[in-house]
Amino acid sequence: MIHSGSLQINSKQHLKIGGCDTVDLAAEYGTPLYVMDEGLIRENCRRYRQALQLCYPHGRVLYAGKAFLTLAMADLVKEAGLGLDVVSGGELYLALKAGFPAKDICFHGNNKSGVELQEALRAGVGRIVVDSLVELQELCALVQSQQQKTAVLLRFKPGIEAHTHDYIQTGQDDSKFGLGFAEILQAVRIALHAAPFLELKGFHCHIGSQIFQLESFALAARSMLRLMSAVKKETGFLACELDMGGGLGIRYLQVDNPPSIEDFVQTVARAVKEAATEEGYPLPDLLLEPGRSIVGEAGLTLYRVGVIKDLPGIRRYVAVDGGMMDNIRPALYQARYAAVLANKAAREATQKVTVAGKACESGDLLIEHINLPPVEKDDLLAVLSTGAYCYALASNYNCHPRPAVVFVRNGKSRLVVRRETYADLIALHQS
Ligand code: LLP
Repeated sequence: MIHSGSLQINSKQHLKIGGCDTVDLAAEYGTPLYVMDEGLIRENCRRYRQALQLCYPHGRVLYAGKAFLTLAMADLVKEAGLGLDVVSGGELYLALKAGFPAKDICFHGNNKSGVELQEALRAGVGRIVVDSLVELQELCALVQSQQQKTAVLLRFKPGIEAHTHDYIQTGQDDSKFGLGFAEILQAVRIALHAAPFLELKGFHCHIGSQIFQLESFALAARSMLRLMSAVKKETGFLACELDMGGGLGIRYLQVDNPPSIEDFVQTVARAVKEAATEEGYPLPDLLLEPGRSIVGEAGLTLYRVGVIKDLPGIRRYVAVDGGMMDNIRPALYQARYAAVLANKAAREATQKVTVAGKACESGDLLIEHINLPPVEKDDLLAVLSTGAYCYALASNYNCHPRPAVVFVRNGKSRLVVRRETYADLIALHQS
């Protein structure tokens, strides 16, 4: 059941994460509770950096903040020596408040507003990843009128169908993200014309998320080098940077067998090097933007079990004190999760149950058909691998306050986001 190295069971048969007893964490901070193993996040950052350093020294890893971003996380990323991807004025604001160096921030988004572009320019972000011709024209006008320099990448859709859920594929031709080949040529000409204020560095792609097939990334890399070579022939522009995005999958279920961080980085690096040689293209600096594979397996969510309903011959529903408000992924992507009865972690899983959330939606089922030890009211359930895209996508549906987030490391815990209160729920309302 327990599939992550950061989880253990202690002599009381309680689940431990980062050296902390989950039963104690629930007692101290309440439930539902997001718990993140800070040691594992740091280790994943280190592995990314080291892997890239080994096989592609002219490279940089940027953490994709959309997966999970708080002030403490931004601090951690900075300390770990990674850059940061942000995708909105709000994420940029958070990063700057955390003291994240603007030059190490890359600004994304398929529909950045004029205000967001101005905020990015004012902050002096390291890169803006341009997603459309309209955005490029707006940016050119801004930098020229403000006489301010900025470095940009152009996002290309490489026409790769990644094997993942439809909603999290992004590189295929029919996508709201990025530019097609003809638009890229136009964009390069516009950007070159806007020099020296606009410094075109190169190209970006991101083919999707939760991808297990490394070949998809290699195909994307080849496609990017072909693009770069064709652009050079047409316009003379030589790109010095290639950003291959994120997308490496993680283990949600015991049967999942995702490639390692090292294999992912090696595959991308090798494909870029080989394709560059084939195309006779000078090696560009390589950027990677992992999100899920840095934080996903480091997180779990603790829930208190409430009502248990037996529907004879149908199923047993075990309702917990959270649900789609703190984890929309099962409802949105049919995502599947594993769970452990955290206060009885060593007991044999003998009963098949469905874990239901408490939102007013029949579809609010966190896990359908999971084997657990006999569950009783007030047991503590830990849903595993919830570190990515759970807190980030959390809502106040049904006026449920959002849970707290706690970092654990070496047997110590610290609150990094306090639990919302009822007062928080109406703090912005006017009557
Ligand atoms: N770079 C870009 C431009 C992206 O759009 C994304 C994710 C990443 C990097 C990071 O990808 P990762 O390494 O985390 O796969 N909410 C969905 C996932 C959406 C991913 C959006 N873009 C989910 O919960 O599965």
